Amino acid sequence: MGWLSSSNNAKISVGNTYKAQKGASRIKNFKVYRYDPDKASNPKLDTYEIDLDNCQPMVLDALIKIKNEIDTTLTFRRSCREGICGSCSMNIDGTNTLACLKSISDIKGDVYIYPLPHMPVIRDLVPDLSLSYAQLTSIKPWLQADTPHSIDKEREQSPQERRKLDGLWECVLCFCCSTGCPSYWWNSESYLGPAVLLQAYRWIVDSRDKQTEDRLNMLDDPFRLYRCHTIMNCTNTCPKGLNPAKAIAEVKKLLVLSK
Ligand code: SF4
Ligand code: SF4
Ligand code: FES
Repeated sequence: MGWLSSSNNAKISVGNTYKAQKGASRIKNFKVYRYDPDKASNPKLDTYEIDLDNCQPMVLDALIKIKNEIDTTLTFRRSCREGICGSCSMNIDGTNTLACLKSISDIKGDVYIYPLPHMPVIRDLVPDLSLSYAQLTSIKPWLQADTPHSIDKEREQSPQERRKLDGLWECVLCFCCSTGCPSYWWNSESYLGPAVLLQAYRWIVDSRDKQTEDRLNMLDDPFRLYRCHTIMNCTNTCPKGLNPAKAIAEVKKLLVLSK
């Protein structure tokens, strides 16, 4: 399949313009990346004129309006519209974010929308996240306890133990952070990236999990973990306000203490 890197912007051509209906009074231009691997043509930037008086407030609302009323071929992921499923991540106005949490009124001028950067594009705004999900699987993102599960008794945590998961459990796996990380751009085959490393830390500090040593040993690798150079793009872009760079620093600290 002719997948293309979403950051190969040099090849983007000017696409179609879809005019707003007559009488529209508050028009905003949405310039949206379009790519169809089945067509032997470069990606293009289509322009959709949207009347803001007839559109709900978020960027995802505008994309849904375009798909429902103007151009049914536009392809993007979305599900919850509440910042919970993590599926509507894309690059909007130069920043990786969730389209359902990005208010149109926060964007001055035209709204530029691209897929998450430096990823193969399946179609339009849909990146191929297969590698990122395989990396997530590699850190075993599930509870590994040393006693069998019982339906009669919960695995208890003290309030202090539970608090260690705050700032971690809220991650919606949108991969805005990983695809904003220069180290991940250049080493995505070998570096796990901030989203997966935050998840790894989430299980390392869970008092109910008993595979802490194995989890740390797995990360103790010059590429999987130490490609992070604390550039902080990840934390700056996280639409949930989380701090993956801090989680990575905590993993590094635990590795030093464990030696
Ligand atoms: S702090 Fe680390 S993970 Fe975050 S953007 Fe920088 S290099 Fe990437
Ligand atoms: S840390 Fe933030 S940006 Fe990264 S995957 Fe989780 S929610 Fe998305
Ligand atoms: S649609 Fe679920 S996070 Fe945006």
